[in-house]
Amino acid sequence: MTDLSHCAVLKAVKQQQATTQGRLPDKRQVAASFSRAAASYDSVADLQRAVGAQLMARLPENPPARWLDLGSGTGHFSRAMAQHFAHSEGVALDIAEGMLRHARPLGGAQHYVAGDAENLPLRGASVDLMFSSLAVQWCSDFAAVLAEANRILRPGGTFAFASLCVGTLYELRESWQAVDGMVHVNRFREFDDYQRLCAASGLRVRSLDVQAHVLHYPDVRSLTHELKALGAHNINPGRPGGLTGRARIQALIEAYEGFRQPDGLPATYQVVYAVLEKPAVV
Ligand SMILES: C[S@@+](CC[C@H](N)C(=O)[O-])C[C@H]1O[C@@H](n2cnc3c(N)ncnc32)[C@H](O)[C@@H]1O
Repeated sequence: MTDLSHCAVLKAVKQQQATTQGRLPDKRQVAASFSRAAASYDSVADLQRAVGAQLMARLPENPPARWLDLGSGTGHFSRAMAQHFAHSEGVALDIAEGMLRHARPLGGAQHYVAGDAENLPLRGASVDLMFSSLAVQWCSDFAAVLAEANRILRPGGTFAFASLCVGTLYELRESWQAVDGMVHVNRFREFDDYQRLCAASGLRVRSLDVQAHVLHYPDVRSLTHELKALGAHNINPGRPGGLTGRARIQALIEAYEGFRQPDGLPATYQVVYAVLEKPAVV
């Protein structure tokens, strides 16, 4: 068994520069990783389905003239939004071309756009509802995402997002820490940072909370294979290089066994849910 941090393609990109902030992986790596995962993503996306459904339940009732699904992935929620808001125009946007290629034939949105949440290729005041489920945790500059939301929303428009914060996958992180002290799990922002940045964004915070979702797996391998199938395995700067030896994997398995519960090995996701509103012009 090889460490997911060292799969062949990731080795090819590991020379790339870390982000300027050194917190999150390079955007090209994120795009490439999700593009590769487009075909396998839906088969393992139970948590992503549950989180997106919770986020949809928090949307305002009023149908938007135009919605944006930011980080639309395989397009599951673009299709859900198209059903929910049957007479609205929809835009699905993702940084991963492979995800857009997968989503486009399945329909849902009127437009499929390749783009970056931190620098949206959309006109100012052109969207009434911006929906984003489990995508912005990949953006190192979340203030830029919020500034873009403020720019592209029409007055009175809504930005609803779900994201991940610190505490996510802490069992895997701590287990690796016990083995070699290296970064094997993607880094996440503190919940406080979400609060602070949203409060300073110029958007009105309607709701902002965090909920733990705990999944269970029969063994460590099932968890790490699922992360890879989602495209969400570790591609952080600072991840260790070289193949992972059998002894280190065995040490990881033993460390993770310390977390075992009656339902299996737990993997905790700390999910941030937020609904922000652009103030109407008076
Ligand atoms: C975990 S998937 C979620 C997909 C979908 N929203 C869902 O809930 O099924 C995260 C998506 O965000 C996209 N993404 C990551 N960083 C992005 C960025 N800076 N701009 C736009 N999309 C991004 C990825 O390519 C991926 O398709």
